[in-house]
Amino acid sequence: CGIVGYVGDRQALPLLLEGLRRLEYRGYDSAGVAVIVDGALAVAKRKGKVRELEGVLPASGLSGVVGIAHTRWATHGEPSDANAHPHTDATGRIGVVHNGIIENAAELRRRLAADGVVFRSETDTEVLAHLIARRPENSLVEAVRAALGQVKGAYGIAVIDAARPEAIIAARNGGPVVVGVGDGEMFVASDASALMGHARHVAHLDDGEIAEVRADGFSVLTLEGAETTKATQALEGEVSGFDKGDHSHFMQKEIAEQPEAVRRTLLGRLDHRFNTAHLGGIELAAREMLDIRRVKILGCGSAYYAGTLGAHLIETLARIPAHAEPASEFRYRNPVIEQDTLYIAVSQSGETFDTLAAIQEVKRKGGRVLGVINAVGSTIARECGRGVYLHAGPEVAVVSTKTWTSTAVAFALLALQLGRVRDLSAAQGARLLAALSALPDQIASIVTREAEVGALSAILAKADHAYFIGRSAGYAVAMEGALKLKEVSYLHAEAYPASELKHGPLALISPETPTLAIVPDDDLLAKNLSTIAEVRTRHGPVLAVTHEGVRLDGVEAAFAVPKSEPELDPILLNIPLQLLAYQVARGLGRDIDQPRNLAKSVTVE
Ligand code: G6P
Repeated sequence: CGIVGYVGDRQALPLLLEGLRRLEYRGYDSAGVAVIVDGALAVAKRKGKVRELEGVLPASGLSGVVGIAHTRWATHGEPSDANAHPHTDATGRIGVVHNGIIENAAELRRRLAADGVVFRSETDTEVLAHLIARRPENSLVEAVRAALGQVKGAYGIAVIDAARPEAIIAARNGGPVVVGVGDGEMFVASDASALMGHARHVAHLDDGEIAEVRADGFSVLTLEGAETTKATQALEGEVSGFDKGDHSHFMQKEIAEQPEAVRRTLLGRLDHRFNTAHLGGIELAAREMLDIRRVKILGCGSAYYAGTLGAHLIETLARIPAHAEPASEFRYRNPVIEQDTLYIAVSQSGETFDTLAAIQEVKRKGGRVLGVINAVGSTIARECGRGVYLHAGPEVAVVSTKTWTSTAVAFALLALQLGRVRDLSAAQGARLLAALSALPDQIASIVTREAEVGALSAILAKADHAYFIGRSAGYAVAMEGALKLKEVSYLHAEAYPASELKHGPLALISPETPTLAIVPDDDLLAKNLSTIAEVRTRHGPVLAVTHEGVRLDGVEAAFAVPKSEPELDPILLNIPLQLLAYQVARGLGRDIDQPRNLAKSVTVE
């Protein structure tokens, strides 16, 4: 969910709505605002997207200079007008927006109901509004602090009180909250990107902190009541990232931006003197790099699949056993944490709760962690303390495209750096540096060929099910390609190692079930061609993403990409799959930038 709040001397509503539009990637089941208007709380909320909320706002707007707003990704209570935030107490004085889950909500609800409170929603958040309203404390910050003392669970919240309109209270325990500092005005948000162009500086709250945010400044306490001081950082970034420009969708724009994103990931990190990569932020001395016996990569969704390719790169180039695992699984299975393993968290947003929890578990047990993160200053980046920033720029479409590619490139750099303190030769290093430098132009030559995926997308769009197959690192590409298609087109695609097809799924191959094969021109080419022949024998249509010059017989349609070095080929082979998913979804009229039921950043368990 996304949270934004404003206190200052400008009209709050337009600023809140702009913030919500930027945060909509965090959830778009419902949206709402609450503004203090003449000493009372005016609330508008609505199931659906921010533009639907705009449709129900009174023509005169809600005129006031203090307000909070929310965009929701439903956990407790289905998306509905009543369950949309902000939630208020019985008198309509207290407004609360919340990101997270209150675990003892049912018990608190029972107690409040026994006391005569009538609930108007099914949410855990409404409980908080009633608890705060019933506190006797004079100051709002003390009332919120006391109410939070009764609550168990994870939250990022913002609270306003129409009777005490001078401040917004924000608190954090698991859900990200930043305070934005402007000129005579202040902001609260779940994500600094909502504040770009408005706040000059931001302060990130840590877990267990509560802030009183007034127009002229802010102060922070711990939930135990001790005063703390918070450092602020300059808010950097380009507002243009939030504009589609000439593109029909953010996904299309972000696919097209990949040459530039990769250039930025590479910038200043290629060391031609020693034929290695130099990642300043990993802070690993050569000695420490040599001591690493294993690498474990943790992430969710596309970040996990990029990590799977990352593990291949590290194992191939540095000859360190490396493995990726969904962070969401790892954190619940009591994993063995080893001193000589390097744990790497991968996340675009830096806010995915499962990834954060996995890293906290590793750290608690004394493990070493690094982050591979896009969002600068995000919670996971700060939790890791060291790592690699992608610098891919803001990614607005819910599905990952340019950050998948930049993550893969960051892993190539890390693998090269780790490899060059081990047994990767200077000549091998030089070969990879040349290939890395060529990537942006090669990617540019693919992203402009959207029309050429037409033959492949026409076949996939007609199917209910498809297989995506690949071998070795090609399997990581197949997994990401199948996920992309599922997410944006809602078609069922399953990734399978090409080598495993004959051990099961071949039973499902028929003229109605296409197979998309990743067929690089590498030393497994002959094996991939045999798998294709097996599928053809069962009359399954085959589509291929391959290299220029590869001869494929009996294939329905193919898309060829230029060759890189074998280790980096998967990065290029993935790009047509992004174009393909985009085109299929577009043809089917899907909501490409905001697919149903998904959110870009899942900050709850
Ligand atoms: C959500 C998104 C995915 C994304 C995953 C991890 O599930 O829908 O597209 O890959 O989170 O996000 P992160 O920000 O940690 O990379």
